[in-house]
Amino acid sequence: ATTLGSAAAAKSKYFGTAVAAYKLSDTVYAGILDREFTMVTPENEMKWDATEPSQNSFSYSSADTIVARAKANGQRVRGHALAWHSQQPGWASSLSGTALRSAMVNHVTAVATHYKGQIYAWDVVNEAFADGSTGARRDSNLQRTGNDWIEVAFKAARAADPAAKLCYNDYNTDGVNAKSTAVYNLVKDFQARGVPIDCVGFQSHVNSASPLPSDYQANLQRFADLGVEVQITELDIAGSGTAQADSYAKVVQACLAVSKCAGITVWGIRDSDSWRASDTPLLFDGNGNPKAAYTSVISAFGAT
Ligand code: G3I
Repeated sequence: ATTLGSAAAAKSKYFGTAVAAYKLSDTVYAGILDREFTMVTPENEMKWDATEPSQNSFSYSSADTIVARAKANGQRVRGHALAWHSQQPGWASSLSGTALRSAMVNHVTAVATHYKGQIYAWDVVNEAFADGSTGARRDSNLQRTGNDWIEVAFKAARAADPAAKLCYNDYNTDGVNAKSTAVYNLVKDFQARGVPIDCVGFQSHVNSASPLPSDYQANLQRFADLGVEVQITELDIAGSGTAQADSYAKVVQACLAVSKCAGITVWGIRDSDSWRASDTPLLFDGNGNPKAAYTSVISAFGAT
């Protein structure tokens, strides 16, 4: 039978989902995960607070569970996220200066080394630019260690796992705007200076506050024209029925139109699994039944 993964694979794209380790004992959840997807992203299990709860002591068991299951299912893995201002363990969020900079490099190196050879793409740095019209960097403890923190993280990740694609990942970057242009300029700057970067992740959390922009495809294309892979990394679309289904189809059509769009990851399986469940933003309802949006994605890939 046709699945999200098989429909996407027929067009040389992957179709993935965020995965929560603590839900793997839910047979409905695990059944859909194993059947429908060809890529997985640990929703929280690879974040700094989860993997290094106290300085220089690492815990990988939850993420390892997700990675092992993916391997057994022939699914690839996106790593999320090596350096991020949010979800830092308390000990890191209270550091600054060179102590924080070396803690960040140590963290990136340790986690990327632990998963060496098992990661299709890492979100090396997540959400480093501010919202709004300035295109400025987000103020954070990491940014305050110096403007070069992003490239330092990318270089450390490349040194630890040369096989993994290294992505920059952000939200509110789905159209041509100040924030996405700041990301665009970062990519150009990295390429000009030989800083390793292979991909850009577009989270694509779509809602009434940030509807799918008409230049969504054009924005993806301008990054692809730089030579980086583009990945839709956290897709969820608030709404329901045909309006939601049509928006999902538009995202698929945009990814199909951009050859360097490697694939699409939805940020969860059932609406009840979503970080914003009340927006019913995903492809399966709370009972694990496929919604109109699911059918729309399948047909947008040209499958039935
Ligand atoms: O694990 C603890 C648990 O021990 C505790 O009992 C419980 C109640 O305090 O909290 C649990 O941690 C929660 C964690 O999800 C795991 O469920 C955190 O409070 C909660 O803040 C965290 O939310 C996650 C959020 O990122 C913040 O990291 C969401 O599940 C996750 O969907 C969301 O995903 C982010 C991406 O990583 C980056 N892009 C935006 C996206 C949506 O915010």
